[in-house]
Amino acid sequence: MTRCDCTAAWAALQTRFDTDARALDLRTAFAQNPDRFAHFSQQAPHVFADLSKNLLDAPTEGLLLDLARECGLEAQRDAMFAGTAINTTEQRAVMHWLLRYPAVALANTEHSAINNVAAELQQVHQTLDAMLAYADTVRSDAAITDIVNIGIGGSDLGPQMAVLALDAFAIPGKRFHFVSNVDGHELASTLTRLKPESTLFLIASKTFTTIETMTNARSAKAWFAAQGGTDIARHFAALTTNVEAAQAFGISTTFGFWDWVGGRYSLWSAIGLPLAIAIGPQGFRDFLAGAHAMDEHFRTAPLAANLPVRLGLLDVWYRNFHGFGSRSIAPYHSALKRWPAYLQQLEMESNGKRVDAAGEALPFSTSPVLWGEPGTNGQHAYFQMLHQGTEVVPVEFVAVKKERHALAGHQTLLLANVLAQAQALMVGKSDAGGHKHFPGNRPSTFLLLDELTPASLGALIALQEHRVFVSGSLWGINSFDQWGVELGKVLAMDVATRLASGDVTGLDGSTAGLLARLRS
Ligand code: F6P
Repeated sequence: MTRCDCTAAWAALQTRFDTDARALDLRTAFAQNPDRFAHFSQQAPHVFADLSKNLLDAPTEGLLLDLARECGLEAQRDAMFAGTAINTTEQRAVMHWLLRYPAVALANTEHSAINNVAAELQQVHQTLDAMLAYADTVRSDAAITDIVNIGIGGSDLGPQMAVLALDAFAIPGKRFHFVSNVDGHELASTLTRLKPESTLFLIASKTFTTIETMTNARSAKAWFAAQGGTDIARHFAALTTNVEAAQAFGISTTFGFWDWVGGRYSLWSAIGLPLAIAIGPQGFRDFLAGAHAMDEHFRTAPLAANLPVRLGLLDVWYRNFHGFGSRSIAPYHSALKRWPAYLQQLEMESNGKRVDAAGEALPFSTSPVLWGEPGTNGQHAYFQMLHQGTEVVPVEFVAVKKERHALAGHQTLLLANVLAQAQALMVGKSDAGGHKHFPGNRPSTFLLLDELTPASLGALIALQEHRVFVSGSLWGINSFDQWGVELGKVLAMDVATRLASGDVTGLDGSTAGLLARLRS
């Protein structure tokens, strides 16, 4: 594996950027090439992607593909799909893709490396079957009306995003709540709406040690007992790799997963139980199948026609050559409300790293900042900056062709808006007065689903997982650890002790001053 900046393609890309590509004008590019849309768009499983409104041309794309080859991207991808321990700082394999691998007769598959992980695949399906059977029991239990997921990070963002996104497929008569913050306000306000006899708490934590989740779980258990609840086995389940800790906590209904599933990649495991309860076993299997179709596309399509590869290369081009520091995420479907938040963890926790896999400081930038809101709301808030601000921010639109409601007129307006925004960013508008001038030439990617279904959502998520893998691989970083979250956790424990005692010895002046003020 060769780091991107040590390749001939990297130097060639820099030259191309300095001499030609920096000045690319999308309006001219479209005028000169009637095939531009066809060339820079493609249908991948469940997702159509139009990359033609990006600051790319065929020679640059060719060099980016050279870069991928020189970096050994295919070998790195194959290592992930062979179960190699590519998470080197934690000596773990990276196999969230195995969670959506069908239970086929192993000998029949042309993915021969799957045989390396045959035992794991068997465990995956045993656990999946058990979890889906449990989901079915909960679905048919009319006495359980409220499902409360207590978890944070990957144990919250994925299931929360997906349950909201697929609300049109959810079983009627059950409400889903997501409690993540250690701020008691969140749990307390949720509890006021619950009765112990009709509530199921799902304690979701890969490690079963995360302070926020453990604090909320303890308080939920205390509330349950104080309200007269006794049957913990019926009203609490744990979703975790640390089944012993869950049992020690007093929860006997447990669904496990494995250390080769990263927290932000765990929605496909037992962490997906809230989604499985909401959309049912078949819906959850469809969700896995959609993701698997994208896995197969990523694993087998040639680089030039491989959508996660094309997106990941574009990300490197924008970050390292154009210097774009952020990407705005614009889902034009209100059920994708939590899509930007989900992608923030996926990309920024994976690729927000300043050293390569060997621990060497990187001389180039890595993860951009991801941010956004559903359209059309964002248009009436920060799109001003996207159109006329001093920074260029690439936008990633997600649109869904077919609506799942019967309200006349809305869908046409929604689709008109998403098309118009992408168009306006690119074409701009000249005005001598300045204030009404739109420079245009602002790039965007357009992802289009026929319909928002379990399968298409699964494919859309897997697409994002793999594009993050692509940029992370080229940057030479370990996209699967997250050491950067540890220092704050350790300091919080120390500060909690000091908040109780008032001891400020050895603290910096600001922390000491604020601590004293908080205690006064
Ligand atoms: O602190 C970050 C993190 O470790 C994330 O990577 C993870 O998704 C989250 O905390 C929750 O962890 P757990 O599922 O172990 O409670």
